[in-house]
Amino acid sequence: MPFLRNAWYVAMWAQDLTDTPKPQRILDEPLVFYRSSQGDIRALADACPHRYAPLHLGKIIGDRLRCQYHGLEFDGDGACVRNPHASGRIPPGARVKAYPAVEKHTLIWVWMGDGPGNPADIPDFSLFDTADPAVVSRREWMRMHAHYYRITENLLDLSHATILHEGVLGNEEMVAAKINLEQSGTTLKVSRFNQTVPPPRLYDLLFRRDGAAVDVWADIRWDLPGCLLNDTGATTPGGKRSDGTGVFGAHFLTPETETTTLYHFAAVRQNPRAWGEPIDSELRVLLSELRHEAFDAQDRVMIEGQQRNMDDAAVDKRKPVFLEVDAGPVRFRRIMDELIEKERAGLVEA
Ligand code: FES
Ligand SMILES: [Fe+2]
Repeated sequence: MPFLRNAWYVAMWAQDLTDTPKPQRILDEPLVFYRSSQGDIRALADACPHRYAPLHLGKIIGDRLRCQYHGLEFDGDGACVRNPHASGRIPPGARVKAYPAVEKHTLIWVWMGDGPGNPADIPDFSLFDTADPAVVSRREWMRMHAHYYRITENLLDLSHATILHEGVLGNEEMVAAKINLEQSGTTLKVSRFNQTVPPPRLYDLLFRRDGAAVDVWADIRWDLPGCLLNDTGATTPGGKRSDGTGVFGAHFLTPETETTTLYHFAAVRQNPRAWGEPIDSELRVLLSELRHEAFDAQDRVMIEGQQRNMDDAAVDKRKPVFLEVDAGPVRFRRIMDELIEKERAGLVEA
């Protein structure tokens, strides 16, 4: 299955690109990222054209990256600009591929398509630029052994929270929610709403801490290729959202290979209640821990197992079953399939 190329992919959280080159495999290609001394983000193919040494073992010199095997130096455009040996002659063809890369919304993004890419096409996650650090969870990542479509389908079908994350993020009483799907261009929004249900643990901790019934909303936005923002929270039954509280959960899925995904995530509390100390500090830690636990111990186990079955020739996959909850995942696949087909046919202008 080919990847969509003309798209901005999240390479890493900006906080994780420090003063040393960092390798990251994206769309099954080895890349190396570094910050120039001017602070610009550079992304090059992670293999020196002389003997293919990994460039991420190299040194940053101003805007250049020096291969630490024999010292060829490459500029931010991937051109070899210095050969320290003998004549200093730079052999023709001594260059590596350069990828457009930018820092935006506290993330490093890379354009894997043709041309320079337009950073204005990066979906809006400006909440990370403006949020009070006290209400932002840890910015984390994990590697999942599944194609990134599996994780996108998981997130676009939030009904799974009521079963797979029972207790923490959902419960039995929330299973039967109505689902609404909207599409605007290539952006999708899948919404669920539950009226007067017992509060899942995380929502209760953030909202009232008394176990009383609540209304729960969840509106998840998807932008290609794998960028999701879940606006979710709880309020008093029949009350306004603005009287409730919740989180914006951001999820970024980047194909590392056909079979592994780089999954970056973080949450920002919305309309947070001030409980005072020590509860506010505890909440910050708990928000990270409960979400990490749900994604790592529950989603990961289920999705990786699902992927293994899908890859298992002994599993009969001729008659897949569809449910109402699949509306979002099915639409997402249709959009991706069309875009990839257009790219394949050469109909996409960069
Ligand atoms: S392998 Fe990079 S300079 Fe020789
Ligand atoms: Fe989940």
